[in-house]
Amino acid sequence: MKDAQPNTVYLKDYKLPEYLIDSTKLHFELQPKGTLVKSQLKVRRNPAAGAGLPPLLLDGVELELLSVSIDGQLVPASRYQEIPAGLSIEVEKPEFELEICNRISPENNTSLEGLYLSNGMYCTQCEAEGFRKITYYPDRPDVMSKFTTTIVAPRQYPVLLSNGNEIERGATEDGRHFVTWEDPFAKPAYLFALVAGDLQRVEDSYTTASGRQVTLQIYTEAKNIGKCAHAMRSLKKAMRWDEEVYGREYDLDIFMIVAVDHFNMGAMENKGLNIFNSACVLASPETATDATFQRIEAIVAHEYFHNWSGNRVTCRDWFQLSLKEGFTVFRDAEFSADMNSRAVKRIEDVSLLRTQQFAEDAGPMAHPVRPDSYMEISNFYTLTVYEKGAEVVRMIHTLLGAEGFRKGSDLYFDRHDGQAVTCEDFVKAMEDANGVDLTQFRRWYSQAGTPVLDVTDSYDEASGSYTLTVRQSCPPTPGQKEKLPFHIPLALGLLSAEGKDLPLDEAGNTQLVLPVTEAEQTFHFSGFAEKPLPSLLRGFSAPVKVRYDYSSEQLLFLMRNDSDAFNRWDAGQRLAFAALGQLQKDYRNGKTLQLQPELVEAYRSVLRNRDLDPALVAKMLALPSEQTLAEEAERIDAEAIIEARKFARHALAEALKEDLLESYRRLHKDKPYSPEAADIAERSLKNTCLDYLCATEDADALLLAQQQFDKAANMTDCAAALAALVNYGNETDVDKSLETFYERWKVDTQVVELWFSLQSGSARWGTLERVQTLMAHPAFELKNPNKVRAVIGAFANRNFAQFHRTDGSGFEFVAQQVIALDKLNPQIAARLVIPLTRWKKYSSALGEKMRQSLESVMQSGKLSADLYEVVSKSLQ
Ligand code: ARG
Ligand code: ZN
Repeated sequence: MKDAQPNTVYLKDYKLPEYLIDSTKLHFELQPKGTLVKSQLKVRRNPAAGAGLPPLLLDGVELELLSVSIDGQLVPASRYQEIPAGLSIEVEKPEFELEICNRISPENNTSLEGLYLSNGMYCTQCEAEGFRKITYYPDRPDVMSKFTTTIVAPRQYPVLLSNGNEIERGATEDGRHFVTWEDPFAKPAYLFALVAGDLQRVEDSYTTASGRQVTLQIYTEAKNIGKCAHAMRSLKKAMRWDEEVYGREYDLDIFMIVAVDHFNMGAMENKGLNIFNSACVLASPETATDATFQRIEAIVAHEYFHNWSGNRVTCRDWFQLSLKEGFTVFRDAEFSADMNSRAVKRIEDVSLLRTQQFAEDAGPMAHPVRPDSYMEISNFYTLTVYEKGAEVVRMIHTLLGAEGFRKGSDLYFDRHDGQAVTCEDFVKAMEDANGVDLTQFRRWYSQAGTPVLDVTDSYDEASGSYTLTVRQSCPPTPGQKEKLPFHIPLALGLLSAEGKDLPLDEAGNTQLVLPVTEAEQTFHFSGFAEKPLPSLLRGFSAPVKVRYDYSSEQLLFLMRNDSDAFNRWDAGQRLAFAALGQLQKDYRNGKTLQLQPELVEAYRSVLRNRDLDPALVAKMLALPSEQTLAEEAERIDAEAIIEARKFARHALAEALKEDLLESYRRLHKDKPYSPEAADIAERSLKNTCLDYLCATEDADALLLAQQQFDKAANMTDCAAALAALVNYGNETDVDKSLETFYERWKVDTQVVELWFSLQSGSARWGTLERVQTLMAHPAFELKNPNKVRAVIGAFANRNFAQFHRTDGSGFEFVAQQVIALDKLNPQIAARLVIPLTRWKKYSSALGEKMRQSLESVMQSGKLSADLYEVVSKSLQ
């Protein structure tokens, strides 16, 4: 925790580094409480930064300084100064060798940044500013250096890893051993990594397109060695894909992945030594669900892709974070789309964006894809930087086409290999390679908020012409009242009364990307014998909201006929939104609830359509989540949302019972598990049907769930059945099933996390009282972020009903946990508090309770910079 009140850092204040570090030699002697770090730096005045020899400022946090030497001579304490942010050293010559010795305590490091211990293994997390918790250093991404790392440790840590290639190993005189690693690529300190532990590994190899052999290794604790195969397969697929689609080959002789149980995020792309949250790498059919298999494939690919988009070409400063994250998320999304169902992947990504990112864009922490300022950079690893950033890159891809985009990325990698650059450099490379002007497009990087497109149309019978009028606007966000028009690629199709795509131009194209660039704009089309029906924003071609006054009939028509699978799904979502909106209104007015018969029939015909991918059917049958309904609402009435959705689910289940049962029976097969897309698709539809069936609370349906639970041979089916039981079953049976499940799986960390989150995330089961009991469970650990996410996070983010209890006790509970966590792990505390920050959107009584709990966090004492930034901005 930092002592002074956090400062705000501004992008406009960026200055070149005063000194460069040509090489970095690190020497670690690992000890839980007193690890010794010796750092030898070749320091050189940066000629581009100006004249003179200003003091050398090094970042350092919670370090015990032991000594400072320059060119082999101890520097007297009068010539350097320990300052709050680190160390300031007087400089006498433009080039010198600096040696610093310091001590750190991995065992006491619960923040999980820097060097820490996880289940007895040493590991590091340095992005964004964790390296300064290891030693004094210019901890900024535009200082790139060649690292050599020696790790000395007792023999009970047989595996000692760092970046690059192993160049030496041996024994020390006192019976310990050491390994030295050398990374030939200059890199910023945030990509440094070290691991030491008693680990096992699986090994494989990969031959690159140019014929080089690469050794691939995945390291875990011995008990998890059987859960690495899927990650290894995913890694090889990702390596091939990056060669084929981007022409990018791997560049070292070895690529390592290590699974770690205590980890703040998903994974980290350290050069040659990726460190993963165990939950994002370990899987077996018996222990992991389909969703986990797919997440692992995506994250392994994401981190691997960073080797080019992030490591070879990195960020100049942290305001440019989306340069690597937005681009890399786009890359992993396209990879996943190629490996699985493209439409389903798109639907999943857009659902996430619409619920979480749109909410962020509308809330107190709203920021542009390239933020202008921050107090704590960790708070800006957001959906906006990642997912919206990926949408921005996708729009460039849409505007330039696949070939043009590839020309742009080739130029970008070519031009900037080995450099630390900006989002501007990325856009410039895209422009230069294609001879286009993206001046207005750049506003996507600097303006926050979700643009809204209001679309109207008219048809002139006499001339057969059709006119589309598009008005764009963007709501104000903190610090940005007025917005200039965005350049929005609006993908459009027009449907005939027969449901066919109509030609839109002379060339006969049936889909066009309209360049929406002005506040108001019209587009003309001609040659129609009747008024066509627009299919707008196909494939979600821009991260915007589209308003168009569709009738129910038109939406049903699009659901059946649109040639764009994404828009077929979206038409169903619009229909469901309208129906749920009506139900909420009726609930508030005390009317009897009744579900629109059109929605029931639409879902019935989707369920009966055997030509559709079952995974798409499953998506089309899913009602918008409570969180999505909340995001869409002008003002959130939590109770009305909960009751409307509950009613709709129940009514649909009752009306479709026969069809659901038929589909369930047809898809419930006794066949060995495979994480292939076709099998995942069938399981997803089957389990969607099971969940609906159980929503009737019929004994027969619950029996089906119980049987599936009892017999399941894979975790997907087992967990889906258990979830249905937890949501709809009777208390004694559920208790028994949960108990059986725990006894069977208590040895498996990942399954226990799933067991926690199934309960905490369930509106019916996860009452506040039960969630408190779970926190007292021996397997719960406040110091482990996965456990916190599984219990407290699932409660706050997914258990809409219990979190929003009208007495405010759900909020108060989360606030108390946030306060406790802030003392251990500020990053996690600052994430967990987010559901409490949107109080302004709630109806007054509940909103006020939410604000009070946020206020209680603020008043609880000295907050970390992380938590202070989020809470103070949200109370404004
Ligand atoms: N770069 C990592 C990724 O692959 C995430 C690092 C997160 N670090 C943090 N301080 N939040 O996305
Ligand atoms: Zn990333």
